[in-house]
Amino acid sequence: MIQSTHSNIYTKLKIYKKVKHERSHLTHVLNHVTHKAIRWCTPSIDLTFAQVKNPYASDTSISHESLGYPSDPSGIFKKIYDHAANAYGADHTLFSVNGTTGSNFMVLRALSKQIPNLRVLSERNVHRSIVAACEDYGINLLFLEPNINQEHQLFLPNTEKEIYEGIAKTKPQVLLLVNPTYEGMSLNLKKIISTVKKNYPELIIFVDEAWGAHLHFSDKLPLCAMDAGADICVQSTHKQGGSLQQTGMIHWKEGRINNDLLLESYRSLGTSSPSYILLASLDAAREVMEKRGREKLEHMLMIAKRFSDEISNINGFKVFSTNYLKENYPSIHERDETKIIVDVSGTGLNGYQVANILEKKYKIIVEECNIKTILFLVPFRATLKDVKNTIDALSEIAQRVKRNKKIVECNFKIPTNIPRILELNEVTKLLWNQIEKVPLTDATGRIAAEHITPFPPGIPITIKGEEFTREIVDYYLKLKNYHNVHIAARDKSMESVWVVK
Ligand SMILES: Cc1ncc(COP(=O)(O)O)c(C=O)c1O
Repeated sequence: MIQSTHSNIYTKLKIYKKVKHERSHLTHVLNHVTHKAIRWCTPSIDLTFAQVKNPYASDTSISHESLGYPSDPSGIFKKIYDHAANAYGADHTLFSVNGTTGSNFMVLRALSKQIPNLRVLSERNVHRSIVAACEDYGINLLFLEPNINQEHQLFLPNTEKEIYEGIAKTKPQVLLLVNPTYEGMSLNLKKIISTVKKNYPELIIFVDEAWGAHLHFSDKLPLCAMDAGADICVQSTHKQGGSLQQTGMIHWKEGRINNDLLLESYRSLGTSSPSYILLASLDAAREVMEKRGREKLEHMLMIAKRFSDEISNINGFKVFSTNYLKENYPSIHERDETKIIVDVSGTGLNGYQVANILEKKYKIIVEECNIKTILFLVPFRATLKDVKNTIDALSEIAQRVKRNKKIVECNFKIPTNIPRILELNEVTKLLWNQIEKVPLTDATGRIAAEHITPFPPGIPITIKGEEFTREIVDYYLKLKNYHNVHIAARDKSMESVWVVK
């Protein structure tokens, strides 16, 4: 018999039937937390979607030849991809089992082969997979200056003017828009795409729509990339589109994208043994969204509205309404209201503390927390009972801290105007002996030889080749004081950083 150990995923998760005498740690813990918790976070699973009932018994592989090949695509796979393209408003679709992370690599690899010396102009709030793929494929990645609400540490969409001026100045062959943002803010995608296409007919528009797999199915949500006329987009269907973790889709329109190169990338970078269970969950999500997506989203938006109205009535909590955001930040054209941003600073607690109490005391999981805010994501499975229980918990938290409340302030800024000293490509070519590790406190003025991504905001703040300015060093020093912030860097403690010699 296999002895269960602390690191056994299956015991901690308890996903599957427990075999007598065998207990895995992860199976156990996951069962425990997921069954009782209220989850205002991804994945947005709905248990009424079709599902593979017994994943262990149903798992199969490409040896099952009559099914066809998922990565080539043929047989049943070709059929489900074509069906999805139709459902999501695309001409072509591929399924990913490595999230949008994998899809970004596939798309950028194909584009780098289609266009020599590729220059991509992007909004700054990119996922780290974009930076890594550009680094690996020798793509010159250029950024628009970010728009940031520093008080709440929110990355906002770029303005139309910034986008048009950026294109005129840098003359890219690909424009990359990250839309909607993590918090569901969307720019005027249709207008921007049609203006850009009119002025630059050759420019390819690529949208990282990781947070928008549900958008196509409701006219109460921001317009999605395919409907707005983008050439290609990537979606994390597992986030808000109803499929299992890891899954995503690549959608594109016939025309500017070289189909052969994209399929070649798909074959080269995708595993040759994708989980058919995950692919089936994408197909099931497609089916429900196509048939009942509108009604499901209507229900979620009703829950979101009730939830945000009730949070607004609790002293100490302030919800960012769509009207407030649009009035104060004109680059926001539309908002996905299934995302509820709450300023908790009036309770005297910071966002990390509120999230921590919610999870530890009430088993309520929020999507994200920050210094002054918490973010609730309304998933398909949310109910009015979840709203009630969460409102009760928030009211209790507000009551408990009322007496000594002092509004939490955010006393540092996310650095902007970061000088790029060396191109990404140049730093990538440096050998191990041409870079060195120095204490963070000595890094001011040095050139970064690593990418650094704090979570939140989950956006690479330092990219290879950029300068460690005093402002950036100070930012990391302050961030280190918040023990809930996870910093993805070579030295996670951020005592030291890697720089060019
Ligand atoms: C904008 C953006 N792109 C890509 C990704 C990566 O997506 P995935 O987790 O599906 O790999 C994320 C993840 O949060 C994201 O926010």
